[in-house]
Amino acid sequence: MSQNFFVRIQILWEELSRKIQRDPESIVVAEDQERIVGNIYIVEDGWTAMVFRLAVVEEYRGRDIDRMLGAKAEEIIKGRGHRSYVIFVNENKVDILGHYYKRLGFEKFDGKHQLFRKELR
Ligand SMILES: CC(C)(COP(=O)(O)OP(=O)(O)OC[C@H]1O[C@@H](n2cnc3c(N)ncnc32)[C@H](O)[C@@H]1OP(=O)(O)O)[C@@H](O)C(=O)NCCC(=O)NCCS
Repeated sequence: MSQNFFVRIQILWEELSRKIQRDPESIVVAEDQERIVGNIYIVEDGWTAMVFRLAVVEEYRGRDIDRMLGAKAEEIIKGRGHRSYVIFVNENKVDILGHYYKRLGFEKFDGKHQLFRKELR
């Protein structure tokens, strides 16, 4: 593996540690005998709430772990006073996951925004 890979992992680890320190409830994980088999990330700042990275390890899919992670995230978000939250779905996955999220009670919300990003130096 390249040096770059390890640098990226190191940065990711530091960013995630910062996230957990700032808000220990902002990453919800599902565990099976101390192995993490699913997660969901919450971004909440009092004004808005979003979730990212809902994912379940392949061999654990189809067991409602996604719903349990979602329900826990919703409990946390609701407990902080929000009446709604948003989830970002990759444009390439909208066709597949759009139906999935509809079944979970989501509605498409203002498809007009595009994300712009700036590197900070
Ligand atoms: C999305 C995810 C968390 C759902 O987990 P799960 O609990 O196991 O659910 P399943 O994998 O059984 O899929 C449930 C539904 O998701 C949909 N789905 C998810 N990924 C899919 C894919 N790659 N292709 C087709 N359908 C997919 C299907 O509609 C499926 O419906 P079904 O129940 O009628 O079969 C899981 O598929 C996952 O981790 N995917 C990779 C990460 C990802 O894309 N996350 C979404 C970020 S927005």
